[in-house]
Amino acid sequence: MKGVILAGGSGTRLYPLTRITNKHLLPIGDRPMVAYAVEALVKAGITELMLVTGGTHAGEFLRLLGNGHEYGIDRLAYAYQEQAAGIADALGLAERFVGDDLVAVMLADNILEMSLRPSIERFGSKGSGAQLLLWEEHEVNHLQSLGVAQFGDNDEIVRIVEKPSDPPSKLAVTGIYLYDPEVFRMVHDLEPSARGELEITDVNNFYVEAGTATYDILEGFWGDAGESIDAYYAVNDFVRTHGANKG
Ligand code: DAU
Repeated sequence: MKGVILAGGSGTRLYPLTRITNKHLLPIGDRPMVAYAVEALVKAGITELMLVTGGTHAGEFLRLLGNGHEYGIDRLAYAYQEQAAGIADALGLAERFVGDDLVAVMLADNILEMSLRPSIERFGSKGSGAQLLLWEEHEVNHLQSLGVAQFGDNDEIVRIVEKPSDPPSKLAVTGIYLYDPEVFRMVHDLEPSARGELEITDVNNFYVEAGTATYDILEGFWGDAGESIDAYYAVNDFVRTHGANKG
């Protein structure tokens, strides 16, 4: 399985911090944010990675990660997203790198308390379709800023609703997505959303409609450090007290 870390976007929700650097280079605990996504994937056994970034600070990722060997990566590739045209647009840049492999995609502002290894291994055995990682959230106003899963009678996902005003469940879709290589065909078929982006939720709904999307519910803490300045500091506080990518 290959890994793709998405670290593009414009980071406007963290202005003015992100006027002077890329969001994913801001510190969390003792490291730049992106280092946690790298660690999560490497500790799960994925050692061929592509980092996708964009904007004016792209070179700093090379300075931080280099050829990746110091981080346990065997092969580290980079791609440059010329415009913040959406998560699925950024993923599309990894098509040739992923080839016929399975791929674990991780948004570089997502931070996990516990290891991803069990989910990655389960998806490796499944070998096709998609596996989404969900996280239980009880605060309605937080769910309203995320993708949220809607379930059918047999606990199967019937739809993902992006930033719902009326969340259909308490299970949020995190920014960790496990896909087969068919994902790139779906990315090609996407149309830009009302906000002009290629939406990862549309990709996930393709898999849901095809009946090939399964899910895991994450244990322990999950945070999106890019949601707001408050969320950024809340994630920082959590990581400094409890650590990340454990087990
Ligand atoms: O964090 C989980 C949430 O991430 C999910 O619950 C949502 O379903 C999903 O749409 C996404 O929502 P966000 O509003 O947080 O997405 P955002 O536009 O902030 O992008 C998240 C990351 O994706 C960002 O840190 C870097 C990467 N990205 C984003 C865009 C728009 C790119 O690499 N390129 C892009 O063009």
